[in-house]
Amino acid sequence: MNRMNGKAYGDSNVYSGIRLTEAPPSPSLDTTPPPSDPSPSDSSDNISSSRLGEEVRRVLNKFFVTRLAETILNDGEDNQRRSRQEGNQREGGYQETGSTKTETKDGVANSSSHAAMIDELRRKCSDAEKDLLDRVVDLTNVPERYSDVCVDETVIKSLERVTHIGVTRREQFELGILQANRIGGAMLYGPPGTGKTLLAQAVAKQCKFSMLAITSGDIFQKAWGEDEKVIRAAFSLSRKLHPCIMFIDEADGIFSARRTDDKKHIRGMISEFLSEWDGASGPKGKKNPLVMLASNRPFDIDQAILRRTPMRICLDIPTPQLRERILEVMLRDETLEDITVQEIAKLTRLYTGSDLRSLCVSAAIHCIEEQQPDADTGCYPASRKLYRRHFKAALKEIRATPPNRLLARELLEFRKRQG
Ligand SMILES: Nc1ncnc2c1ncn2[C@@H]1O[C@H](COP(=O)(O)OP(=O)(O)OP(=O)(O)O)[C@@H](O)[C@H]1O
Ligand SMILES: [Mg+2]
Repeated sequence: MNRMNGKAYGDSNVYSGIRLTEAPPSPSLDTTPPPSDPSPSDSSDNISSSRLGEEVRRVLNKFFVTRLAETILNDGEDNQRRSRQEGNQREGGYQETGSTKTETKDGVANSSSHAAMIDELRRKCSDAEKDLLDRVVDLTNVPERYSDVCVDETVIKSLERVTHIGVTRREQFELGILQANRIGGAMLYGPPGTGKTLLAQAVAKQCKFSMLAITSGDIFQKAWGEDEKVIRAAFSLSRKLHPCIMFIDEADGIFSARRTDDKKHIRGMISEFLSEWDGASGPKGKKNPLVMLASNRPFDIDQAILRRTPMRICLDIPTPQLRERILEVMLRDETLEDITVQEIAKLTRLYTGSDLRSLCVSAAIHCIEEQQPDADTGCYPASRKLYRRHFKAALKEIRATPPNRLLARELLEFRKRQG
């Protein structure tokens, strides 16, 4: 079936590499982790079946459905929890890290080389492209290792594969069956703070791609009719950055099918985006970016956009096992004295990765607040040890982001429909 015409988006997906039938993941996320890809580089598996994409989605669906359902079921408890949250200082805001760093093509990872690359690029850019140069993400501080991004390994493998094949083997998509089944993009969706941006950045960094992050502000801030110009500039800039991931955060805000603004205007903007995405400009679209969308509300996104993202990955609220992994990563360079990450993981039900990070920061701050300067030297200790009491204090301040029952239900329904 032609993917563009079919009602099931996944019918002709061409990403591959996951052996889905060998050991399907347990329907309960809290017990068994899903299998990892046993041979991600086995080329005989590549693009082997038109049904593979559909199966990827079905397995991923099964995997995540449980957590979303749990969120809905636990809403009563969460309401009580929410009412206890007055005084919660989470919104006091710990600084997001790693959101604006990149790596140069030669692999030299530091912010000054990123700045030099931008300066070089500036000379070749049109005015409209120059306006978007500060959207080229500096990936310097993004984790070097995928293991720092605690999501199911099959998710990472399949996303990396799509990214790589979709951009570096673009010429293959000008021939035969693949002509009508290009890999145009992928979508990461799920509740806030579950690592969508982090994962997209990690994939870009690992694949040594550039990343251009576009938001609704970039597109809609301009005068009437200017948004189509911004879209053309975004695509032409990303071609100059080739290979490049164009990351569109909060994609529902741009491509919403439910927008009440001028429908004709929005349709024009979406049409322009689709035509650029399909490679209307550039040499047969060869250097076009891989478009990666991120959204908390994928069900609001226009169908024509959804059709071009055959790979959809749900990042859910972490399981206890994933919480342990996230905490291990975050507390890797800290010394824990009378508490373990396993214990902290048990105490943090429904905490997202972002909540866990705030919790760890809060515990460390409680620790340094306790520290006294040395009586002789007047110097504060250069190191620290985290105790149970620090986490206890942090747990009082940092609660799980209150799950949004309606959002969880809509996400669950979306996921079921995709399966
Ligand atoms: N799965 C995870 N593994 C490791 N760290 C995580 C994970 N999820 C979240 N984090 C931590 O939380 C931070 C915020 O996550 P991120 O911004 O990627 O979430 P998001 O899903 O994009 O949220 P939003 O929907 O609000 O944009 C990350 O920088 C990271 O420190
Ligand atoms: Mg994000």
